[in-house]
Amino acid sequence: MQNFDYQTPTRLIFGKGVIEKLPGVMASVGRKVLLTYGGGSIKKIGLYQKVLELLKGFEIVELSGIQPNPKYDPSVLEGVRLCKAHGIEVILSVGGGSVLDCSKAIAAGACYEGDPWDLITRKVRAKAALPIVDILTLAATGSEYDQYGVISRTETNDKVSYGDPLVYPHTSFLDPTYTFSVSKKQTAAGIADAMNHTIEQYFTEDTTLLNDGFCESMLRSLMVNGRKCLDHPEDYTARAEMMLACTYGCNGILALGNTYSGWPCHGIEHALSAYYDITHGEGLAIITPRWMNHILSERTLDRFVKYGINVFGIDASLDKWEIARKAIDATYGFFESIGIPMHLREVGIDESRIGEMAHHIAVNEGLENAYVPLSEKDIHEILTASL
Ligand code: NZQ
Ligand code: ZN
Repeated sequence: MQNFDYQTPTRLIFGKGVIEKLPGVMASVGRKVLLTYGGGSIKKIGLYQKVLELLKGFEIVELSGIQPNPKYDPSVLEGVRLCKAHGIEVILSVGGGSVLDCSKAIAAGACYEGDPWDLITRKVRAKAALPIVDILTLAATGSEYDQYGVISRTETNDKVSYGDPLVYPHTSFLDPTYTFSVSKKQTAAGIADAMNHTIEQYFTEDTTLLNDGFCESMLRSLMVNGRKCLDHPEDYTARAEMMLACTYGCNGILALGNTYSGWPCHGIEHALSAYYDITHGEGLAIITPRWMNHILSERTLDRFVKYGINVFGIDASLDKWEIARKAIDATYGFFESIGIPMHLREVGIDESRIGEMAHHIAVNEGLENAYVPLSEKDIHEILTASL
């Protein structure tokens, strides 16, 4: 087992109606609030109105229109400008992972005199950040319980994942009822995202019985409850378990003591989203089984066998290679069965920029250090197989 140094400072407040605690939590961090949100879903579900009602007496400045795959320009830059102009003390993010990731970049940028891109690209280490409180409305990324944010810069086709303990949310409000209105497309993408977060941590060299069991349970739970959420969007129990599983996805708890895997599917997907602005979870679902096929070898065989038996219940008495291939087919089959388009062409990506993207990924994502090292040629082959 590898050494580690681990701390998650975020307070999670989970369940139906927990938003009533919002004024108390906010008052403990500040009264001048930057309220961040996306394209309007929070107004449709009445959450925006509820937040304003609860925060009467607070000074609120708004930043709306934060898009999926949140953009550096205008959203991060505008948020930083508003924080500085109004002396903002706390950011309240209401929405999905994109709103929260953007809020994290704003929180650090607001306490920095230079170009916030320096912080996102880790050219400069942030010395401080504003506190962030969030009300999550979409279960997927785990941003509510982690120190990461992913920001896109359209003009350079960059989608950069940055991390800093300073941007862990102070408090995350997780009320599963706010996810009832999430569309089938976004629910399925959320299931795929959280499953891939788990897979990225499961497929690595040095693992433990403890972590393997945690990951296998995550995957089974996400498949069972995810399907229930799609069939019955207002099934509270299913939405609640899915929300909690997603929350565990990215803060490292699933892989404490494991070797770092390099998160290869994320490295590849971030380029797809950067070049084509596709939905993150859909890109991951398309890449994952192709990446699995690519890395299946004598060396990785036993991992696939364990995955196949414990996650999909494949007959353990079969030949190992047959179990592994069945496991990859089952992964593909599950994503397809929840309505995800399983070819890049179906999400608007053809072969024209595959070479350019493979090069961009090879240069920027460090996948030569992944569990199974990936060269530019490997990445090109995985992308081509995904078409
Ligand atoms: O903009 P609004 O109107 O709010 O609509 C959003 C958006 O169109 C909608 N939505 C959110 N909550 C809703 C709702 N619609 C109806 N009812 C609700 N309750 O859903 C759409 C997608 O929202 P978005 O926030 O983009 O989705 P998600 O939470 O999946 O976030 C995706 C982003 O997170 C990044 C991804 O790369 C992508 O940019 N990631 C962040 C990570 C992290 N911070 O740790 C890790 C992940 O691997 C991922 O990379
Ligand atoms: Zn992800």
